Amino acid sequence: MSDPTAGGLENLLSEDRRFAPSAEFVAQANAHGDLYSWANADRPAFWAEQARELITWSTPFEQVLDWSDAPVARWFADGRLNAAYNAVDRHVAAGRGDRVALHFEGEAGDTRTLTYADLQREVSKAANALTALGVATGDRVAIYLPLIPEAVITMLACARIGAPHSVVFGGFSAEALHSRILDAEARLVVTADGGFRRGAPSALKPAVDEALAKGPTTVEHVLVVRRTGQDVEWTDGRDVWWSDVVDAASDEHEPVEVEAEHPLFILYTSGTTGKPKGIFHTTGGYLTQAAYTHLNVFDLKPETDVYWCTADVGWITGHTYVVYGPLLNGATQVIYEGTPDTPHRGRWWEIVEKYKVSILYTAPTAIRTCMKWGDEIPATFDLSSLRVLGSVGEPINPEAWMWYRRVIGGDRTPIVDTWWQTETGAIMISPLPGVTETKPGSAQVALPGIAADVVDDEAHPVPNGSGGYLVVTEPWPSMLRGIWGDRQRYVDTYWSRFRDLYFAGDGAKKDADGDIWLLGRVDDVMNVSGHRLSTTEIESALVSHPWVAEAAVVGAADETTGQAVVAFVILRGDAGVGDTSPDDVQAQLRAHVAKEIGPIAKPRQVLVVPELPKTRSGKIMRRLLRDVAEHRQVGDATTLADSSVMDLIARGLATPA
Ligand code: WT7
Repeated sequence: MSDPTAGGLENLLSEDRRFAPSAEFVAQANAHGDLYSWANADRPAFWAEQARELITWSTPFEQVLDWSDAPVARWFADGRLNAAYNAVDRHVAAGRGDRVALHFEGEAGDTRTLTYADLQREVSKAANALTALGVATGDRVAIYLPLIPEAVITMLACARIGAPHSVVFGGFSAEALHSRILDAEARLVVTADGGFRRGAPSALKPAVDEALAKGPTTVEHVLVVRRTGQDVEWTDGRDVWWSDVVDAASDEHEPVEVEAEHPLFILYTSGTTGKPKGIFHTTGGYLTQAAYTHLNVFDLKPETDVYWCTADVGWITGHTYVVYGPLLNGATQVIYEGTPDTPHRGRWWEIVEKYKVSILYTAPTAIRTCMKWGDEIPATFDLSSLRVLGSVGEPINPEAWMWYRRVIGGDRTPIVDTWWQTETGAIMISPLPGVTETKPGSAQVALPGIAADVVDDEAHPVPNGSGGYLVVTEPWPSMLRGIWGDRQRYVDTYWSRFRDLYFAGDGAKKDADGDIWLLGRVDDVMNVSGHRLSTTEIESALVSHPWVAEAAVVGAADETTGQAVVAFVILRGDAGVGDTSPDDVQAQLRAHVAKEIGPIAKPRQVLVVPELPKTRSGKIMRRLLRDVAEHRQVGDATTLADSSVMDLIARGLATPA
């Protein structure tokens, strides 16, 4: 494991700007400072109260936390409930059916508005259709859709019948989809002909066909939404149109009550090995923390706020803060299908103005991109409706934080920098906007009810002013319940580095006040545009190409994306590269990775090298490659088996091929 405190982020700790919430904000805030003391005095009791207050149970629970099978927690285990009922029906039952749930904005400018009553009918129809297609409670459903209302509807329809969903981001390849379908043994795939991306239709259905052609699967049907009108190949008996089966279904459906620990979804994320991990979450605890954090971290006022989280539902942020959190709280929200620069670079700000968005939740990479495009663009739109801004996905550098506050937030809005992970299910460390005096670049404090710390190699908490590894020290309601089908991998990955502590994989520091500053991953996981990528997974993709003998991948600092993928490859002697030009070799290998994993994994650079730096035990020293990729003086290379390798690499790269 690399030194968590290395990496030139020292400057963060000298940041001394402070932003206290205004008196007006404090006066109207949902959460107050006294929450911390009572929540942390008895965490299970605190969460039990949130679970009773924020969630409707068909059978109330009496048990709170059962940690007897640690590290697999059971929360509220004797209670029963339905997630879709909580997200939709109960709002209609309480007379709020006319409230807008979703303002959908298509990339091409087409719009749809769904109230909670509309959503109830649509979700019920979809639930009836899933049942008619043979999906039963407990069966898994893979979802491969663009960010259109049907994505939200399908997730909720699955929840309604107790069929765990496994959403696969539409930007992932057929290969990635295939392995996820196999691992979860999905019975149904829900997809679309395509979605709109950068002004053009982008196909999805062909990737499903290709994934299912790779070998026998448990998939019986493919349910296809017509979105772009593109031509699609059709397998009779297997493929069915959404318009045929969902639109025709009854709009009445009785939600299936499940146990609190019934799996709600699986979501795959990259780890340090090549095989993605199927992180699975269950129902009662997940929903409790989703609702609680959404209400308090964003200070949501469901009657008046318009909330917009820019994440896709293919990521955990889209699960917790597009689907479950906001809908549980009866919020009105915007979902947008496309990219921030289609058809122009002011598109996001145009949407904020149009819908009077008051809470915006996005990622540092997007903020830095908009910053690069210039202040003039947001300045031409009315952003005065904004009152809370959120950030997630990677450490936000103080410059980007300040720009976000000044240019987007009009120097007025609190910013919440929220740290969490696919595994944690919901926000864990974040300021509370009506309580915390914020510091640009710091996620600061564990939320009420959450116990996090920074520890040294021996698991001892570090003193203020020092760095170490971020851990969670007490179970929390929305924690993952495991890796699908692999309990041992769950224990090994998260619970063996520091006994009895959840190790998140991040390095962190405590400042003089004890506030937490995240420093990035300490394992072989990269963070590109707030998305997690595994070095090993990309290396496997590269060596699956006939030209490549060996590959090593590193995450190199990148001004916009946080990190960028840089690959070093050794070509095979007999490879048949022939007289392919070095540029073409690079282009073809980049395209190969995009095809194997998805465009987000495409290396920024592929450097052909004669050797890779390895220790005597054969471990690749990525630290040295990172020095090369970031154009730094190469660090200490004395533990290399062959110390001349770095010279060889440097010389090779210096001579234009
Ligand atoms: C990893 C989790 C959780 C939603 C998006 C990513 C990094 C996340 C922050 C933040 C610094 C952050 C961590 C974490 N990360 N939020 N506010 N400050 N780093 O989910 O793909 O599961 O990745 O993202 O490294 O471990 P994910």
